[in-house]
Amino acid sequence: MRSILVTSALPYANGPIHIGHLVEYLQTDIWVRFQKLRGNRAIYICADDTHGTSITISARAQGCSEEEFIAEMSEAHQRDFAGFDIEFDNYGSTHSQENRAHCTTLWKALRDAGMVVEKEIEQLFDVEAETFLADRFVRGTCPNCNSTNQPGDNCGNCGATYSPAELIDPVSTLSKSRPEIRKAVHLFVQIEQLHDFLEDWTQSGALQTESANYVKNYFLHEPLQDWDISRPGPYFGFEIPDSPGNYWYVWFDAPIGYMASTTQWCQANKESFDDWWRSPDAEIHHFIGKDIQYFHTLFWPAMLKTAGFSLPTKVHIHGFLTFDGEKMSKSKGTFIRASNYLKHLDPAYLRYYYATKLSHKIDDLDLNREEFAARINSDLVGKVVNLASRTAKFVAGTGLSAEYPEDGGLFAEAAAQGDAIAEAYEHCDYSRAMRLIMELADKANPYIEQNAPWELRKDPAKGKQLQDVCSVGLNLFRQLAIYLAPVLPQLAKQSGDLLDAPVVSWDDAKTPLTGTAVNKFKHMMQRVDPKNIEAMIEESREEASTAHRDTDVSPVDSDEALKAEPIAPEITIDDFAKVDLRVARVLAAEDVPDARKLIKLTLGLGGEERRTVFAGIKQAYDDPKQLVGRLVVCVANLAPRKMKFGTSEGMVVASGPGGKEIFLLSPDSGAQPGQRVH
Ligand code: 2FM
Ligand code: ZN
Repeated sequence: MRSILVTSALPYANGPIHIGHLVEYLQTDIWVRFQKLRGNRAIYICADDTHGTSITISARAQGCSEEEFIAEMSEAHQRDFAGFDIEFDNYGSTHSQENRAHCTTLWKALRDAGMVVEKEIEQLFDVEAETFLADRFVRGTCPNCNSTNQPGDNCGNCGATYSPAELIDPVSTLSKSRPEIRKAVHLFVQIEQLHDFLEDWTQSGALQTESANYVKNYFLHEPLQDWDISRPGPYFGFEIPDSPGNYWYVWFDAPIGYMASTTQWCQANKESFDDWWRSPDAEIHHFIGKDIQYFHTLFWPAMLKTAGFSLPTKVHIHGFLTFDGEKMSKSKGTFIRASNYLKHLDPAYLRYYYATKLSHKIDDLDLNREEFAARINSDLVGKVVNLASRTAKFVAGTGLSAEYPEDGGLFAEAAAQGDAIAEAYEHCDYSRAMRLIMELADKANPYIEQNAPWELRKDPAKGKQLQDVCSVGLNLFRQLAIYLAPVLPQLAKQSGDLLDAPVVSWDDAKTPLTGTAVNKFKHMMQRVDPKNIEAMIEESREEASTAHRDTDVSPVDSDEALKAEPIAPEITIDDFAKVDLRVARVLAAEDVPDARKLIKLTLGLGGEERRTVFAGIKQAYDDPKQLVGRLVVCVANLAPRKMKFGTSEGMVVASGPGGKEIFLLSPDSGAQPGQRVH
C-alpha cells in the first residue's frame, strides 16, 4: 500500500471559485479518489492562500478586517468545493498558527544555510493607501515606447520590462494618486546556491517531459535570480521573527501552507507529520496550473531541500480553461462562478466532461457548450445509466440470478480492462480512461438491445431468461460505475444503493454480483438541457455587469445624519430653479486671521466673473492653499451679505455637521467653471 499526500494549489482568498479553478480541483479529486479506491493510503490536502496586499484592499473595500474577509471567503470556497463533490481530507488556511510555525522552521534553515541576503531596493509607495505597490497596482507611461496606461512590470505595447520606479507618470490603481519612490530593505533568498541540485532535480522525472524541457531554460542564463521574499509593513501576513517590520511575501508562506494543513490533519488523525514530509516511504504529489510552475519547480524544492524535507515525487501541471475556444470572459458570461454553475447544472456533468478532456499534457482545455451537452447525453445518460434504467425494474422482485449467466465474455473482458483503465488514471490520462470505459459501454448496450428485456417480460415462460439478461445488464452497469467512481462518486453510490453493494474497491469490478436483491430503480441522471447552459451564461453575464455597481454601494450606511436633520418640506421644481448653483474654481484662498471659522475664497466662474466668499470651513481645511485650483459648487445668486471682514457674495456648497467635519462638494472631473448645476 502506497502512502500518497496530494495537494492542489491553494486558492487565493480574494475571490470566489470559478469553473477555471475547477479544472485543477476536479483533476486532483479524481486522482485521490482513484488512489483510495485502489486501496492506497491517500490524503488530499488544501487550504486558502490568504496573505498579501490584495486581501487588505478587498477587505477595506468591504469595510471589514482581513481576518473577517478571509474567514468568509474560506467558507464560500469550501461550500463551492463540496458542491462539486471535491473531498479534502483537510482544508486549512495559510493564516494559521501551524503555518507560522512551519514558516519559522524553513526560514531558520535558509538563514543557517547562508542563503538569505539583504538588499535595498526602490519601490513605489502609495502615500494615501499607505502601502508599497506591487507591480499590478501601478500604471503609467512606458519608459521605452511612451505608450500610456501600462502596468508596472512590462509594457503591453512594446514588451519592454522595467521596474515600477522607472514608469513615467506612475499612478496607483488603489488611490489614483501619484506614488512616491521609497527605498526599503528586502530579504532575498539566493537559490543560485542550489543551481546544480535544482537542475538535476527538475530533470529527474518529477515533472512531465514537456515541463522538464521548458524548465531547462531557467538554467541557461546563469545565475538563478535571487528571490525577494520580504515586504515591509504594513502587510497582511506573518512578520519575520528576526527582521521586525518586514513580512514574508505571500508566495513564501503559501506552499508552506501544504505542510500546515497536513499538520492539522495529522493532529486530528493522530498521525505523525514526519511520516508524510520526511519519510522516503511517502509520496508527495502537487497539482498546479502552468502559471505557477516557477514557484513549484524552483523555489519550493529549494526550500524543502535546504530544510531537509522530502521533495515532491511529482508536480502535475495542467493548462488553462477556455470556453468555446476563447479565453473566459466576464462580459460574455463565460467566466462562470462555481456557485452559479451549481444553480443550473449537475456537478457530475462537469466532472465527467473535464475527465474526457484531461490528459497528462499541459495543453489548455476547452469547454465547448454543444460538445458538453452531447457528451453527457450520449455517454452518461445514453450508454451508462441506460443499462440500469432498462433492466433494474424487471428484477426488482426477483433479484439477480443465483449464478452469473453466460454473456458472451462481456463481463470477463471488462474485468480484464481494469488494469489498462487504472494505468490511465494513474498517469492522469483521464481522457484515455474515459475512452476505454465508453468502449466497454458500447459493447454492453448491444447486448441489451439484442436481448430486449422489455420483450421478454411479456412472455411469462421467459422469466428466467429475463432475470439472466437483466443480471448481466446490471453487472455490466456496476462495472462501469466502479471504473467511473473516481469521476462520478454519486453514480457509484447510486449503483451501490440499487444493488445493495456499495463500491469500496477497484477490484469489486472483477467479480459479478449474484443472487442479491435489486432495489427499486431511482432516477440517476437527467439529460443536459441546453437551455440551462444558456441560463447559466446569462446569469454570469448579468452578474458581471452589476458587479461594478455593487462595489460602489456602501453596504449599510448609518441613519444618524438623517435623524439629526430630517428632510425639509417639499418644494416645487420652480422653487429649486431659483437657486443658481454653479461650478466654480477656487482662484485664491486666504486665512482670515481674526475669524475663528472663516476662510476668504475667490471663486472664478469662467472668464472675468468672480465671487468673493467667506466660508466657515477653517477647521476642516486648516491650510487654505490646499483649496486653490479645485472645483467647488457655489450658490451664485445669493444676495451679498456684509460681514465684519468684508462682503460675502455667495456660498460654497458643503455637507457635514460642522467643525472639522465639513466636506466641500466637487463635480466629477470634466466639469467647467460657470456650468450650472441642475
Ligand atoms: O496562484 C495562486 O492562486 C496561488 N494562490 C497558488 C498558491 S499554491 C501554493 F503554493 F500554495
Ligand atoms: Zn512600451
